[in-house]
Amino acid sequence: MSRKNGFHARWGLGRPRAIGYDRWMRETSSPVTSRQVEPHPRLVKTVQKHRDFPWRKPIADHSRETFAVLAPRVERWSGPWILDTGCGTGAGTAALALRNPVALVLGIDKSADRLARSAGLPSNALVTRMDLEDFWLLARQAGWKFSLQCFFYPNPWPKPEQRLRRWPFHPVLPTVLACGSAWEVRTNWEVYAQEFSLAYAALTGEQTPVEPWNPEVPDTLFEKKYRESGHSLWRWRSPGAIGEGPGPRP
Ligand SMILES: C[S@@+](CC[C@H](N)C(=O)[O-])C[C@H]1O[C@@H](n2cnc3c(N)ncnc32)[C@H](O)[C@@H]1O
Repeated sequence: MSRKNGFHARWGLGRPRAIGYDRWMRETSSPVTSRQVEPHPRLVKTVQKHRDFPWRKPIADHSRETFAVLAPRVERWSGPWILDTGCGTGAGTAALALRNPVALVLGIDKSADRLARSAGLPSNALVTRMDLEDFWLLARQAGWKFSLQCFFYPNPWPKPEQRLRRWPFHPVLPTVLACGSAWEVRTNWEVYAQEFSLAYAALTGEQTPVEPWNPEVPDTLFEKKYRESGHSLWRWRSPGAIGEGPGPRP
């Protein structure tokens, strides 16, 4: 399918649709504003605490059941695996799958409503409804390693007091690393990308810079919405996500 025609029409990236969520996606959004203008001073201490005291959250039974159904489908794929975290409607999952035909791209999201819009994925893509925290805990137990883990436009929770909801502050972060060290983050809040970079450095000792991100064509619905709203977009890639191998872009 051509990236310029069928792909964008199918995923609603080329022209707006008419109702509900789609109408909301079409409206202009305001850039992120926050009292926090740089990485939070408590970030590194929080990450170190999560590294030194592993998270012991009980895993929900329904997550175990979903994972048990998912596992054989993933494990029979002999090529690389890419994870699209918080995949929403699956547009990014589809874009990654088309760009990486040898890889299996797995999209995980907790929203049934968004996933219900993910029809027509390429044959090397699949999406599943699950809470990501449980997913990562189960994936680590199963010894899964992703070639790339993508965080495309996670909700930034920009108020300083909301920081514990951001992935870099989350106790699951060391588990995410155990599932694969190549990460790509895209966001419309530069500070969030900087926090990912710092948190990764606190876990691995490796630091890479945040860069402006100006995609010619959007990969996801949020990328499209933010771009059309005139927001600056930012990308951060860990060292393992830069260069050769499966990945969204060189
Ligand atoms: C802002 S949307 C971005 C969607 C998509 N990546 C895009 O760029 O269009 C964030 C998505 O993350 C999902 N999400 C947030 N927290 C999650 C969690 N703990 N587990 C699974 N999905 C989650 C939400 O349901 C939502 O679809």
